Order: sequence, then C-alpha cells, then structure tokens
Amino acid sequence: MKIISKEIIANAAGVKIVKMSLLSPEISRKAFPGQFVVVMVNEKGERIPLTIVDTDSAAGIFSIIFQEAGLTTKVLGALNVGDRLYALVGPLGHATEIKNYGKVILVGGGVGIAEILPVARALKQAGNYLVSILGVKNKDLLILESELKNTSDQLYIMTDDGSAGRKGFTTDMLRELLSKDKYDLIYSVGPIPMMKMAVRISKEYQVKTWVSLNALMVDATGMCGCCRVTVYGQVKFSCVDGPDFDGQGVDWEELEKRNKAYSAQEKHICHHFPATETQ
Ligand code: FES
Repeated sequence: MKIISKEIIANAAGVKIVKMSLLSPEISRKAFPGQFVVVMVNEKGERIPLTIVDTDSAAGIFSIIFQEAGLTTKVLGALNVGDRLYALVGPLGHATEIKNYGKVILVGGGVGIAEILPVARALKQAGNYLVSILGVKNKDLLILESELKNTSDQLYIMTDDGSAGRKGFTTDMLRELLSKDKYDLIYSVGPIPMMKMAVRISKEYQVKTWVSLNALMVDATGMCGCCRVTVYGQVKFSCVDGPDFDGQGVDWEELEKRNKAYSAQEKHICHHFPATETQ
C-alpha cells in the first residue's frame, strides 16, 4: 500500500487530477480492465472506490487516477511518494466483458477518461475498431490524450470552450458518428448527465451501451446496500453486480438523487477540515 509514484496530470480551473502508482503485487497480478479498488486513506477515513487504470505485474504496481473532489480525495492527493495508505482492497467488481464486438465507440468525460483507457487497450487487443471521444471543460484538463490516441483508430476531443479539438459535448460527437455509420457497442464513463445523455442518444440508434457507474459505496462487497442502482426494474449493487451496466436499463434519476445524498455534509466537512489538517 505504499505510494511508488505520484504525478499531478491536470491542474486548472480549480480542478486537480492526480495519478498515483501503488505497490501491491497481488492486485497488479489479478486486476482486469473495469475493476476497481477501495481505498481507506487513514484509520478514520471513509472508503472510496477508484478504478484500476494500469497494472505492471512484473513490478507489482498498479495505478489509480482521481480528481480531488471531496474530502477523501483531497486527503489522498496530499500524500506523497513513500507514504502508505491505511487500507486497500481489490480488485473488486466484475471486469468489463472484452471480446471482438466490431466497431466500438468509447465516450470518456472528465476524469472518466482514465476509466476508459484500460478498457480501450483490452478492446483493441481483442480486435475491435475503436473510436474514442474525450470531453473536458478546457484543454488544460485533458488527460491521457496520447495514450488513447495510440490505442484508438479515431480520436475526437471535445471541449466546452473550444480550446482543444472541437467546441461542444462528447454527446454531440456521439450523435454525429451514429448518424453517419453503424456501430456495435458504446462504452461510456463520466459524469452522470453525460452518461445519461449518451444512453438517450444510443437508444435512438439502437446501439448497446455499457456505462461504468460510480455509485456511492461503503463496504464494496455487497453487504451494505449503499451502492444500489435500479437496472431494468431490478435492484443491483454496483460493487458486486457492476460497475458496468447496460445503460439503457439504468434508472438515472434515482442514481442522480442517491449520489447527491451527502453533498451538503461533504461541503461542510471540507470547509472545516482542509486536507492538510486531517492527516
Ligand atoms: Fe455496500 Fe455495494 S457498497 S453493497
């Protein structure tokens, strides 16, 4: 659980995204694309799920990428190389189903771009034709562009302000691509409104769409029910049934409501305990 490397890969407009490599020979050996770990930064901290972005089983390390958004990610981001995390469990969740689907569109928004990278690599290896659409607010927040360029057959960048690629949303490009060609699968990770819109568009074109859901989690082993999500009318747990789900069956309104449940407390805690004071 030792931090082997740390790099701030984006830091602009009040958004900080950090890449960290952690030492864990077991996790690096067993992880598959789409799986995640649960991190407890310190003894009193909450448990947060983070996607495994990269593994190096020979070196026994794996990487996570996170945006400093709430208290726990800020505390995690304040740690340095050589520091240790209090606890780490993983790999958790089902791996993404990798096979040769044919033509696949990957849609990554914000820090969700990090989550599509391992899936993109595996899908490419399985022989798929990959079109990646990356969406960020502005060029300074764009992460993993060259990695995804190397993995994808086509890559499109969308920015809110037009400072890189084209001005607009990932879903604008998704609609454009779907209106011109036939695709076999869409894989989308990012903010809930983006995934919700991607699913709405893909439904019009009848293309199956997997989404990786970042539901609130506590135990992450299927016991607490905190991460529940309704899919095609059935209650599922993101941690053990997901994190990938068929987006067209997800009850997005319910998920939005549940993910906002603690935002007031989070703001309150962050205000009173800045990251550096909670080490
Ligand atoms: Fe508790 Fe999934 S986090 S059931």
